Amino acid sequence: MEKNNKKGKILSGIRPTGPCHIGHYEAILKNWVRLQYEYETTYEIADLHALTDRTETGDLNENIYEVLIDLLAVGIDPEVSTIFVQSHLPQHSELHLLLSMITPVPWLERCPTYKEKKQDIQSGEGMGYGLLGYPVLMATDILIHKGEYVPVGEDQLPHLELTREIVRRFNHLYDDVFVEPQAILTETPKILGVDNRKMSKSYGNAIFLKDTDDDIRAKIMIMITDPRRAYRKDPGHPEECNVYSFHLLYNSERTGEIAEACRNAGIGCRECKAELADKVIEVFSEYKERRRYFEGNRELLDDIIREGDKKAEAVASDTLLRVKRAMKLV
Ligand code: TRP
Ligand code: SF4
Repeated sequence: MEKNNKKGKILSGIRPTGPCHIGHYEAILKNWVRLQYEYETTYEIADLHALTDRTETGDLNENIYEVLIDLLAVGIDPEVSTIFVQSHLPQHSELHLLLSMITPVPWLERCPTYKEKKQDIQSGEGMGYGLLGYPVLMATDILIHKGEYVPVGEDQLPHLELTREIVRRFNHLYDDVFVEPQAILTETPKILGVDNRKMSKSYGNAIFLKDTDDDIRAKIMIMITDPRRAYRKDPGHPEECNVYSFHLLYNSERTGEIAEACRNAGIGCRECKAELADKVIEVFSEYKERRRYFEGNRELLDDIIREGDKKAEAVASDTLLRVKRAMKLV
């Protein structure tokens, strides 16, 4: 596809904290696949971001591959999108430092994500300096790659607003180097895990894209259902049942009948879950085939990243040079 026909440049990132689960797929990856045909897209595996709230890095490199395989297997096409690894481009670290100089600390302290994370941070030494700077790192990503549009869910909007404030401040203090990026507000359904808490690897409640069919089925069969439906004969309340939310996503043509059958106790929860499991397995079967192809091909993965890094680096070093000129560092 001709780049010129596209609507502008998108930059977005995902943290390599482990293999992607259904929550990532619905909130991020699905949008990324669709957007790559409308916009010029650069997608970042944000490994530096993954360091902002943990010190344990044993799996980091492996997780970069995991996420890369997930991106490719869901249909991000490296011929169409640029995929690169954040830490492979030292320009990020440099621009992050320079932007940190002009970002007032109170702007960072008022970020809701910071306030939340600060509370549940695990290190006994207290919160790291990098966590406060997390949104500056995200601004760096967007600005260094000249992102005009950023697909974000509601939770990331404050970070984008902060990026825009940093742009205004930098351009005002030095020179008009940056353009204010716009949000593309994407629908990000809150996906709950099998225990009804937010789906997250750390809670052990996630259904991963790479799970085997048996794993998917086993996880779905233990999902929490409507708590008011203690017995098979009790009428259910589908709108209060996470299994039903999944039916809405993966079995949409049957939701009317299922809701009805649930309400009049015409269907049992086991049966309802078994049907859902079949659907989820079917939806992700194509993904699994592609995953198998990439999994066995490290060289190909390394080539894809090398290419992506190269393309991304050309843009990043151009931006960095403009910044340094504006700041009279060169
Ligand atoms: N902050 C995002 C997250 O934690 C990931 C991310 C890193 C990102 N850099 C970005 C998102 C740039 C959008 C644009 O999920
Ligand atoms: Fe949930 Fe299905 Fe049971 Fe109704 S029948 S409570 S929708 S699992």
